[in-house]
This record gives sequence, C-alpha cells and structure tokens, in this order.
Amino acid sequence: MKTKITELFGIKYPIILPGMSWISVPELVAAVCNAGGIGYLATGSLSPDKTRTAIRQIRELTDKPFGVGVSLLMPKAYENAIIAIEEKVPVLNISLGKGGDLIKKVHDYGGKVITTVTTVGHALAAQKSGADALQVTGYEAAAHGSQVPTMVLVPAIVDEVKIPVVAIGGIADGRGMAAAFALGAEGVGMGTRLSITKESPVHDHCIKTQLESGIEDTIYSNRFDALYCRVLKTPSAEKAVKEGRNIVKGFKATFSIAKSLNSSWMDMATSNLSSPKGEKNAKPKDAAPKDNPVKKKNKSFIGKMSNSYQTAMNLAHMAQGYVAVQNAVENGDLEQGVYLSGQVQGIIHDVPTVAELINHTVEECKKIQKGMADKAL
Ligand SMILES: Cc1cc2nc3c(=O)[nH]c(=O)nc-3n(C[C@H](O)[C@H](O)[C@H](O)COP(=O)(O)O)c2cc1C
Repeated sequence: MKTKITELFGIKYPIILPGMSWISVPELVAAVCNAGGIGYLATGSLSPDKTRTAIRQIRELTDKPFGVGVSLLMPKAYENAIIAIEEKVPVLNISLGKGGDLIKKVHDYGGKVITTVTTVGHALAAQKSGADALQVTGYEAAAHGSQVPTMVLVPAIVDEVKIPVVAIGGIADGRGMAAAFALGAEGVGMGTRLSITKESPVHDHCIKTQLESGIEDTIYSNRFDALYCRVLKTPSAEKAVKEGRNIVKGFKATFSIAKSLNSSWMDMATSNLSSPKGEKNAKPKDAAPKDNPVKKKNKSFIGKMSNSYQTAMNLAHMAQGYVAVQNAVENGDLEQGVYLSGQVQGIIHDVPTVAELINHTVEECKKIQKGMADKAL
C-alpha cells in the first residue's frame, strides 16, 4: 500500500498505534511495526530514564521505523522528547502543545514529526510550526478527541492544509480505513482497536467489558481530568461525572504520579498539567461557563492567590483522572478505576493478534476500494 504517510515514515501500511499510557509499551509498539504499521511509545507515564530504556527495548524487538509520543501537557514531557531526539527516533508525535523547537531538533537528524490536532486552527498552527503530518482526532475517539466527528473534521482539515493527514477516532477495520481515504486522509490510527489484541497489555477484565459494550456505552465529559475525554460507561465513570473533582483523592494522586515519574509536586505544578490549555480543551460553544476549568490569569494579589489555588485544583483534577485510568488498565479495576474507550468498541467483537488485525484491515480496505470502483463503472 502506498500513500503519503507510508512514504513519509518508510512503512508498509499507513496504520498507526497511537501513544496510550501503560498500553503502547515496547512489545505492542514493536508488534505493530513488525506487522507493517507504525507504533508510538507512550511516554506520559515514563520518567526520562525509563523512556530511554523503552526506546532501546523497541530497537531490540524491531528493525522497522517506530515513533515516540509526547503529550506536552504531562510533567517531564519535554525531557522525554529530548531523550527521543538524543536517541534519534524516526518519528516524534507531539500532542497537546506546539513543540516548536522540538520539531527543528527532530528535522536536524532527519526524523519526522506528526502533530495531533483536534481543530482546523490548531492544524494550521501545527503546519506553520513545521510538522510533517497531522493526526486528526475526531469526537468518536477514546480519551481527548475533538468536539467534531472524524467524518466532518478530517475533510475540514484536509481542505485547509498541505501536509498529509492521518484520521483517528472511530476506526476499527477496513471499512473505516476506506472511509478515511475517501475523506482525504493518507493513513489511519486505531487506539481502541489495537488495544484489544493478543499483544495488548490491557487487563482482561477491561477487554471483556468493552467486548460486551455497545457504541452508546461511553461517556464524553470534562469531569474526569479537566479536558473533554471519552471513557467506558461504568458505574465508577458515572460516579466520577456526578462528583467531578475530589480534592483529597486528587492531591494524593498528584504525589503518587510525581513519585512514579521521579518528579516533585513543584515540577507537577509548573507543568502544563496544572493549566490544561491544549487544543483538546477547546470548550464547546454551547457549554456553560463553569464547564471550562481554565480561567484567565489575574495579576492582583488576590488574583495571584486565586491563580495558585486554581493551579493546585487543576493539577489535583488531572492527577485524579490519571490515577483512575492507570488503575483500570493495570488492575482491571472498573469499580474505582475509569477506562478510556472509543465509541468503536461497539463494533469490535474479537481479540486477534496485531498481525491478523492489520492484514485483515488492509485486505478489507482494498476489497471495498475495488468494490467502489466496480460500482462506479
Ligand atoms: C485504552 C486507551 C488509552 C489511551 N491513553 C491515551 C493516553 O495516555 N494519551 C493520549 O494522548 N491518548 C490516549 N488514548 C487515545 C488514543 O491516543 C487515540 O487518540 C484514540 O484511541 C483514537 O480513537 P479510537 O480509540 O476510536 O481509535 C487512549 C486510548 C485508549 C483506547
């Protein structure tokens, strides 16, 4: 299969495993690369040392191009990106931030940068800052997707930019891939689908629950981690929506994340995590003002105190979400934990190997493309 994305990344099929914390680990990344796609190592839950070790582990498991994902909202994200650059990783995926100087550093050694975006405005900004491609994440997606569905968002962005676009959000098979090509995308990403495979480290209980859930069984809300986020509908997720922030849990979570990242509370408080202004946080036009956790900076004394309070609260809120997701992925705890899942869970009914999934997706896509050509004749 030949598209602008296969050419750009030097891969066989334009199929991407996005960076999913605790899931896109070296084994799964390498499985996707060895099957002809490309996987990104998730670094959101890794300290810089662990990121370097994981990159080297991927190189032991595959000789194919691979990527590293950095969510610039996370503490240590910039440091993790610098490690990826020192290791000269073939592809850097930047999300929730611009990363201007990082792009130049990657280009200096011949690497490529793909930036995750959820609006036309941010797509244009990412193109301007030098990204080689865009990963456009629609509303259907697990975690922090756009307010706009993939079906509308992809052509809207394709119409405005000159660099290739990868469609992600709601794609699970060759039908989704063929549809993405029809919308003008040059490749697809699959998060939920690739996390339900034999090589995925996700706890069996989460996978079993997803397989039993339908397309309506997710919740999209900003009350888990302060950004709009899609999760599996479970009693604990519904409780989290109802309760919103829990300050005690949030502060405890902040310290536990700081410890696991070899970081400090202060590091966390000065990271973007405490002030989530990424494009994925764009407030829907019809949302009530209280829905937006980000307030304007106020320079008066009382204003500064209030900003510090706001920072601590945002941090606690984000940290609470992070720990709940980790608990679900690693322990399968859907009583206390919250699990990220896309609407596409409702059309997934099996647990194939990564290679089986990728081969089937490509074959089905080709068949559909041929069938469409025949229909047109
Ligand atoms: C279980 C799971 C965990 C995820 N974790 C992260 C994460 O840590 N960081 C992130 O930016 N996106 C995360 N995502 C979102 C994916 O990167 C991707 O945007 C999304 O899965 C695409 O939509 P799809 O699930 O419909 O394919 C996660 C997705 C899933 C399914």
